[in-house]
Amino acid sequence: MKTCEDNKRVWAKIKESKIDPNYMKVYEKEYGLGGAKLGLALVENGSKVLSLGCGGGGRGEKELKRKNCKITAIDLDKDMIEQSKRIEPNAEYIEGDFLNFRRKNYYDYIVCLFNTVNYLDKAQRIELINLAFYNLKKGGQLIINTVDLSYNPLRLLLSNLKHHSMYYYFPQESRLWFKDVNFRKIEIVKVETSKLIVAKK
Ligand SMILES: C[S@@+](CC[C@H](N)C(=O)[O-])C[C@H]1O[C@@H](n2cnc3c(N)ncnc32)[C@H](O)[C@@H]1O
Repeated sequence: MKTCEDNKRVWAKIKESKIDPNYMKVYEKEYGLGGAKLGLALVENGSKVLSLGCGGGGRGEKELKRKNCKITAIDLDKDMIEQSKRIEPNAEYIEGDFLNFRRKNYYDYIVCLFNTVNYLDKAQRIELINLAFYNLKKGGQLIINTVDLSYNPLRLLLSNLKHHSMYYYFPQESRLWFKDVNFRKIEIVKVETSKLIVAKK
């Protein structure tokens, strides 16, 4: 699967970062670590959290564990889940497509961090928003952090062509994802290089 191939490419780079210790820092800064951190800061201690595209857990699961959250973490990539298990062995892990996951009115928060929505095309992003609404409790919040084409458009458009599992999009698009879903409040703010989107059910 393309997504897993992309993950392997990124992890190969991270391993190289042992040679260049700045690589990971530059990568995280460029792809919105600030927005991810701020998004995680909104999560209350002890809450039930669904983590979409948990990856290796080094950012999301580590912080959610510190906050004593009850975590369900989903990723397509087995290797990523194995890495995340080392960081937070007590989470519930699901290997598979988060677009197939349904647990009605269950979660206080759903987090989709560090560019995970950029792995989806527009139709899938709309599907994600609908599913998040279904899975959140009333008053629950969907927290997304993502880089759009308002940051470095030329390079990111080229990246769309090069990596077939990434889709950077024009900034106007993100409002449209919510068009037919009844979230009570949707906020989109710029944090460093990325956008932080918080939608309250
Ligand atoms: C850029 S990583 C982000 C990892 C993590 N959220 C973080 O903040 O470090 C995106 C992850 O989403 C996963 N992913 C992408 N599309 C997915 C899908 N439809 N279902 C489950 N996982 C998916 C990828 O396998 C990858 O591990």
